[in-house]
Amino acid sequence: MLSKFFHKSNNVNNQPEKSQKKIWAVAGGKGGTGKSIIASSIAVQLARRGKKVVVIDADLGSGNLHTYLGVTPGITTLADFLKNRIQNLTEVLISTQYENLSLISDSNDVLGLANVSAQIRGKMIRQVQQLDFEYIIMDVGAGTSYTNLDFFLISDHGLLVATPEPASVENAYRFIRSCLNRKLMYKFHGTSYQSLVDKAAYPKESGGVHSIYELVEKVYQVDSNAAEEMVNEIMNFRPRLIMNQVRSQSDIQVGESVRDVTRKYLGINLSYIGYVTYDDNIKISAKKRTPIFQEFPNSGAAVCIRNIVNRFLEPG
Ligand SMILES: Nc1ncnc2c1ncn2[C@@H]1O[C@H](COP(=O)(O)OP(=O)(O)OP(=O)(O)O)[C@@H](O)[C@H]1O
Ligand SMILES: [Mg+2]
Repeated sequence: MLSKFFHKSNNVNNQPEKSQKKIWAVAGGKGGTGKSIIASSIAVQLARRGKKVVVIDADLGSGNLHTYLGVTPGITTLADFLKNRIQNLTEVLISTQYENLSLISDSNDVLGLANVSAQIRGKMIRQVQQLDFEYIIMDVGAGTSYTNLDFFLISDHGLLVATPEPASVENAYRFIRSCLNRKLMYKFHGTSYQSLVDKAAYPKESGGVHSIYELVEKVYQVDSNAAEEMVNEIMNFRPRLIMNQVRSQSDIQVGESVRDVTRKYLGINLSYIGYVTYDDNIKISAKKRTPIFQEFPNSGAAVCIRNIVNRFLEPG
């Protein structure tokens, strides 16, 4: 029955991404995969091409984007907005030394900053969506907090950064699954399928629904239109995967496995958009607090990141 709904799609790897859209969220499930390096590098690369860009340190409470960009944060930062001390996100916008690139920094040692209320999170999201930039790049923290999931879900392009290690792959998969569950919870909130969707999110609890396919089957048994709507929602969730710190062909292929596994078990159209090689120049430039494109524009990692950005910008 399900194949009737889950159309086969092979839109991966070498198709241009055709992006007119502007919010890109960079997440990864696991810490230390290279989210901040990649978010800041993408932002710098877009700015160098004349796009008006803001990069937001959305790793609440642990932000260090300013360090990677060599920017001294202002006195007022995102923390002041999150603590309701200021009302407008635009008040914490600062310019960087890179033309066309602004930053919203989260560089304050404020206890509990990562635990923002749903109300503040909603306020931040609304204001992010209204920012007057061509590209808004969000560096999302590690883990599957509701804040991280929601930042990813509101983006036009959700970029997942994983490394080839099993723990990173596992967390990337978990992040995607959590995002999908949250997306379905939003969509079917208040409907007669809400409890089934909740059960799919907590499959180990009694009466749990053990997979996305089982969920769709169960909904289909009572309402085929709702099942179709659910499948559309699943198919429209299109996270993009970047494998970072790859050292070999088999590392590159790990990304293909993640794509295949998420399709097989979650029905998701994950697109593997590229990889970034392990490159000591990244570490050297990070130590100098400069983006890789500043000092090593032709290094292996810089070329990979440029290729990824190209894929989004190419007309197609
Ligand atoms: N392609 C790469 N080659 C070599 N080193 C890299 C590469 N990408 C990232 N790194 C290094 O890995 C470390 C972690 O990078 P980064 O801070 O971007 O990760 P993160 O995912 O943002 O971490 P966190 O979860 O703590 O925010 C840094 O020391 C960075 O220099
Ligand atoms: Mg980071």
